[in-house]
Amino acid sequence: MLAVTATAFHADDPLAGLRVADVRNPSPPAGWVEVAIKAAALNRHDIFSLQGIGLRAGELPRILGCDGAGVDRDGNPVVVHSVIGDADAGHGDAVNDPNRSLLSERYDGTFAESVVVPAANILAKPAELSFEEAACLPTSWLTAYRMVFTNSGTRPGDTVLIQGAGGGVSTAAIVLARAAGLQVWVTSRTEQRRAKAVELGAHQAFEPGARLPQRADAVIESVGQATWAHSLRCVRPGGTIVVCGATTGDAPPAELARVFYQQLRIVGSTMGSRQELLELLRFCALSGIRPVIDRVLPLVEARRGFAAMVGGDVFGKVVFTV
Ligand SMILES: NC(=O)c1ccc[n+]([C@@H]2O[C@H](COP(=O)([O-])OP(=O)(O)OC[C@H]3O[C@@H](n4cnc5c(N)ncnc54)[C@H](OP(=O)(O)O)[C@@H]3O)[C@@H](O)[C@H]2O)c1
Repeated sequence: MLAVTATAFHADDPLAGLRVADVRNPSPPAGWVEVAIKAAALNRHDIFSLQGIGLRAGELPRILGCDGAGVDRDGNPVVVHSVIGDADAGHGDAVNDPNRSLLSERYDGTFAESVVVPAANILAKPAELSFEEAACLPTSWLTAYRMVFTNSGTRPGDTVLIQGAGGGVSTAAIVLARAAGLQVWVTSRTEQRRAKAVELGAHQAFEPGARLPQRADAVIESVGQATWAHSLRCVRPGGTIVVCGATTGDAPPAELARVFYQQLRIVGSTMGSRQELLELLRFCALSGIRPVIDRVLPLVEARRGFAAMVGGDVFGKVVFTV
C-alpha cells in the first residue's frame, strides 16, 4: 500500500527524511481493527517527528499521521482516535496513561491506505461531516476542544485570546470558542492571516505583542517562546493560560513572580479523551461548524503539503486523500 514514512531525522531539513512509497500492508493484532483511510490531516507533530522530536531513531521507518477518517472492515464510516493508551492506567483518561502514545509515535500512523488501531479507538463518523472534514478533528481540533471547554475555565460571554491565529489548533479554537459564545481575540504575524481569522469568527485580531483593550479571561497558547511573555501580560488576575505546544521553543522566562502575584492558572493540555472526541463530533454535526481546510491533496502528493507547513504557508488544515 502507499504510505508516507519518516525514514531519517533532519532537524534543519525535515523533508529530507520523508518517503512516499509502497510499504507492506498492516495486519491487526488481536483486539485491533483495520481502517481503510479515506482522508488524513497533517499536523505540526508530523514535522516534529521528521526532526526527531518525540520519535526515537529505533522507531524508524515509521508511517506518519495522527489524524484519519475512513471505513472499517464492515464498511462503516469511522473516525480514528489517535491516543493509544489505557484509560484505567490514566485515572479514567487514556491521555494520562504514562505509557500512552499517539499514532505515528510507537504505532504506524494514518498517512497510508490503511491503519490498524485498537477497536476502542474508532468512532462512528457523523453523516453531516465529509471524510476530509472528519479527518481534521482527532488531533488539533480535539486539542482545541479540550483547551477551550475542559481546561480554560471560560464560560459564554468571557474573553479568550488565541495566539498564532493561523495554526491548526488556533483556527479550531477560534471556531469552537466563537460557536460557544465567547469573545474571541487573536494575534497573528501577518495582516492577511489576521483578516482571515476575523472572517472565521474572531471578534478582533491584533499584531503579536499588541496591547489589548482589556485583559482576557483565558489565553490559548500553542506558539510557545515567541508569545509566552505576551500571554502572561494579557490574562486577567486569576485567569488561565492553557498551553498545548511550543512551536517556537520552550525556554521563555517563567516570570514566576507574575504567576503567583496575579494568581494565574497555567494548565497544560494534550489531545483529548475518546469521550471528548465524541462530543466534538456531535458539536460539529449539531452546530454546523466545520474544520478550516487550507488545501486537499492526494496522498501521493503529500510532500507538497509538508513543504507548505514548513514554509508557514498554511491557514487551517492540510488534508491528504486516498
Ligand atoms: N499537546 C497536544 O496534544 C498538541 C496537539 C496539537 C498540537 N500541539 C502543538 O501545538 C503547536 C501548534 O500546532 P499546529 O498543528 O496548530 O501547528 P501549525 O498549524 O503549524 O501552527 C503554528 C502557528 O504558530 C504561529 N507561529 C509560528 N511561528 C511563530 C513565531 N515565530 N511567532 C509567532 N507565532 C508563530 C503561527 O501563527 P501565525 O502565522 O498566524 O502567526 C502558526 O500558524 C505545535 O507545537 C504542536 O506540536 C500539541
